[in-house]
Amino acid sequence: MLVKAARTWIRRNAGTATESADAVVVGAGAVGLAVARELALRGRDVLVVESAGTFGTGTSSRNSEVIHAGIYYPPGTLKARLCVRGKELLYRYCFEREIPHRQIGKLIVATRAAEVSKLEDIMRNGTENGVEGLRLIEGSEAMKMESELQCVKALLSPSSGIVDSHSLMLSLVGEAENSGTTLSYNTTVIGGHVEGNHLYLHFSESKALQNHAEDCAVLPQLILSPRVVINSAGLSAVPLAKRFQGLSHGTIPAAYYARGCYFTLSKTRFPPFSHLIYPIPEDGGLGVHVTLDLNGLVKFGPDVQWIDGMDDTSTFLNRFDYTVNSDHSARFYPEIRKYYPNLKDGSLEPGYSGIRAKLSGPRQPPQDFVIQGEDVHGIPGLVNLFGIESPGLTSCLAIAEYVVSKLSK
Ligand SMILES: Cc1cc2nc3c(=O)[nH]c(=O)nc-3n(C[C@H](O)[C@H](O)[C@H](O)COP(=O)(O)OP(=O)(O)OC[C@H]3O[C@@H](n4cnc5c(N)ncnc54)[C@H](O)[C@@H]3O)c2cc1C
Ligand SMILES: *[C@@H]1O[C@H](CO)[C@@H](O)[C@H](O)[C@H]1NC(C)=O
Ligand SMILES: *[C@@H]1O[C@H](CO)[C@@H](O)[C@H](O)[C@H]1NC(C)=O
Repeated sequence: MLVKAARTWIRRNAGTATESADAVVVGAGAVGLAVARELALRGRDVLVVESAGTFGTGTSSRNSEVIHAGIYYPPGTLKARLCVRGKELLYRYCFEREIPHRQIGKLIVATRAAEVSKLEDIMRNGTENGVEGLRLIEGSEAMKMESELQCVKALLSPSSGIVDSHSLMLSLVGEAENSGTTLSYNTTVIGGHVEGNHLYLHFSESKALQNHAEDCAVLPQLILSPRVVINSAGLSAVPLAKRFQGLSHGTIPAAYYARGCYFTLSKTRFPPFSHLIYPIPEDGGLGVHVTLDLNGLVKFGPDVQWIDGMDDTSTFLNRFDYTVNSDHSARFYPEIRKYYPNLKDGSLEPGYSGIRAKLSGPRQPPQDFVIQGEDVHGIPGLVNLFGIESPGLTSCLAIAEYVVSKLSK
């Protein structure tokens, strides 16, 4: 019973298995779903293929769920532009559909005099990026807003917030389906080939891969030649693109992976903070920060643990190690106490972890999102989405807009 949803979709597209088809989106995370919805709203017949048994089991459900303001990223980058635009679209989307979210604001804090100049840099970039309402405030003012906070100066970002990512994705799925999108779960894209400037996608049931040797010599159970292919496979977008035979490998960036672990705060009746609290960003991430979820749970994280890549099949099947080692809490306490000195011993419990899809390694400068269309690789209709780490959740609706605009050029 190969990929029943896909077969039905193919029949509707009036093609045999290797003939042309309309649009295929690889990956049902927040980004793939937002793109699928956008394509479907514009009249395309969309198939979303997802290797897992349902949507949103990858990075999209393993993050801070913060609606980022767009402060950190160098002006003019895709991260800066798509975050600021995405935030606007996301607040409106959530408001109109009653998706749980709250604009609680954020304080980025300098805990030592030496950090104040960094705060000023961040403020300058943020303002240039078009983030409204940013304000540098004295430590005393910040500590009046948050009685448990310790800092010498802070940057207040009133447009930052939190969102329930599962409700968001559920809504995107619903709207995509209402516009005729088909979702095929337990279906993996194992590669593809280019023939006459056209990309053919190779599919297999995920089950067929599960017990297979690591080099993934599995034969495709289905081959399709869609007009449009969006590779939004998250952590596996790079290894998947490398399996598109005939796609120039020179255009595909190197992939790096960095795990981020969260600890939750136990034994508190009331959350100690009402804003998101972020230290100055560190190498590879934004620093061990305080996030609140919509149920009032307080989380600290994520840290940065660089991990080695895996074989392709394991990335397709999301076999990353998500274990949160409770020993790591020893490193969290001193980090957190820099701005939250009253954090009690024994109050941190292992939470969950997520893995960042990075395009730069340890001690290398951060990279921008890489979104490549025909202009880069020469294959009409193919868009590869690489390095969609934070702020990818915030940006998902803007990424969708951007991808569709790339296709219509
Ligand atoms: C620790 C951490 C914290 C973060 N915090 C924030 C935050 O607060 N705010 C924010 O805006 N962003 C944040 N992000 C970033 C955000 O989570 C991601 O940018 C976003 O979720 C990426 O979505 P995606 O759809 O690209 O990827 P994913 O959600 O990973 O979806 C990709 C999907 O593709 C599927 N797939 C993979 N390979 C194949 C294949 N070969 N065939 C079929 N399907 C396949 C996977 O199973 C998966 O479901 C954070 C990320 C991390 C790791
Ligand atoms: C996906 O596979 C799992 C495990 O084999 C199975 O339990 C589940 O019902 C499948 N889901 C779909 C939508 O086919
Ligand atoms: C601000 O932007 C510049 C590029 O204009 C970049 O080099 C720098 O790293 C950014 N600083 C911060 C703190 O984000």
